[in-house]
Amino acid sequence: MSAKLPYARRALGAFVTAAAVSVPAAQAGEVEVLHWWTSGGEAEAVGTLRDLLESEGHTWKDFAVAGGAGDSAMTVLKSRAMSGNPPAAAQINGPEIQEWGELGLLANLDAVAEEGNWDELLPGVVADMMQHDGHYVAVPVNVHRVNWLWANPEVLADAGVEMPTTWDEMFSAGEALREAGYVPLAHGGQPWQDATIFESVVLSLGGADFYRDAFVELDEDSLKSDTMIESLSTFKRLRGLMDEGMPGRDWNLATGMVINGQAAMQIMGDWAKGEFTAADMQAGSDYLCAAVPGTEDAFTFNIDSFAMFKLDDEAAQQAQQTMARLVLEPEFQQTFNQIKGSIPPRTDLDMSAFDSCAQQSMADFQSSREASTLVPSFAHRMAMRSDVQGAFFDIITNYFNDESMSAEQAAERLAQAASLAF
Ligand code: GAL
Repeated sequence: MSAKLPYARRALGAFVTAAAVSVPAAQAGEVEVLHWWTSGGEAEAVGTLRDLLESEGHTWKDFAVAGGAGDSAMTVLKSRAMSGNPPAAAQINGPEIQEWGELGLLANLDAVAEEGNWDELLPGVVADMMQHDGHYVAVPVNVHRVNWLWANPEVLADAGVEMPTTWDEMFSAGEALREAGYVPLAHGGQPWQDATIFESVVLSLGGADFYRDAFVELDEDSLKSDTMIESLSTFKRLRGLMDEGMPGRDWNLATGMVINGQAAMQIMGDWAKGEFTAADMQAGSDYLCAAVPGTEDAFTFNIDSFAMFKLDDEAAQQAQQTMARLVLEPEFQQTFNQIKGSIPPRTDLDMSAFDSCAQQSMADFQSSREASTLVPSFAHRMAMRSDVQGAFFDIITNYFNDESMSAEQAAERLAQAASLAF
């Protein structure tokens, strides 16, 4: 894999590996945990892990870096690692686990995995992502579904529209909502939020195989195809359903607009459900969930996970192993995922206490695995290397905000960015 890493990353790797030798031993039994869960629902959810770890006698040192989708957190992590002082545990998702594994910085979790029978508990697609070079180096916390549409039913009813199931319905509902004085689609203009919507439009118009060709295989013909151009056009049309206050807005504030009835809908992963839950709203009555139009049979996954960094101190290592064990135990899985809006990554748990959206998510996760329509979210670090993802984010956001850039030009740029990736 190192041959594929760009020069800068290899250089960083050499530096970080050298620096890591002098990692100071962490205080006994303490785990410093880097994560980006700072919204109301997220903070409550991560608090359940802190409480469990502390109930086993260890100390949780919180290292929360605000910023949806973890872009800021990953920047901070790199600088901490470069200075030879990485946190004991960090939220690292998707192929980036491989990138950090390649640097030789991650602790081996095979013993905990074997004791907890992770190979049996976890679906292959999840287990593979947690391993580097055949060894477990990360533990999955949850499975989020990204291709969701959320709505406030009172607002829909007031405008006389129903939850849209096609893009045509979405645009005509948008007109009615606008006339009734609502923002049809709540959004925050940040690159990862733009990409979150865009990837669902591509899945909707192209289907799972096309999505994989474009965003996993980085196939240039797919990236500049008519289907991609049409997806880009539909994506930009959605801009007309948003409000002027969207630049820079955090995702949870956009969810708040749906909660307080200022906006009708939001396209967002099911961490948005954590906000509805924190506001004491019930799925199916106070708020609605549905797959993004045209993606009912598919599931875009986003798996949060914690990787542990190698430390010398034995007590700290013990605390890391305890945290890894707790994460997959039923107690944590049930409580955390109900608060967070996600589903457990292990598929053997009783889902009866979960709300109807989570139950739908679990059923669709299973059926999409069977139908090969389970795809990794590129907006959430699941599908491609971080440098390519960064280039895609730039192109998509520039296109979304720049009236002079055509869909054809944007598609051409995506294909060009992909060609530089090999
Ligand atoms: C995702 C992450 C979720 C949620 C969201 C908003 O990337 O997987 O757990 O935190 O970002 O920050």
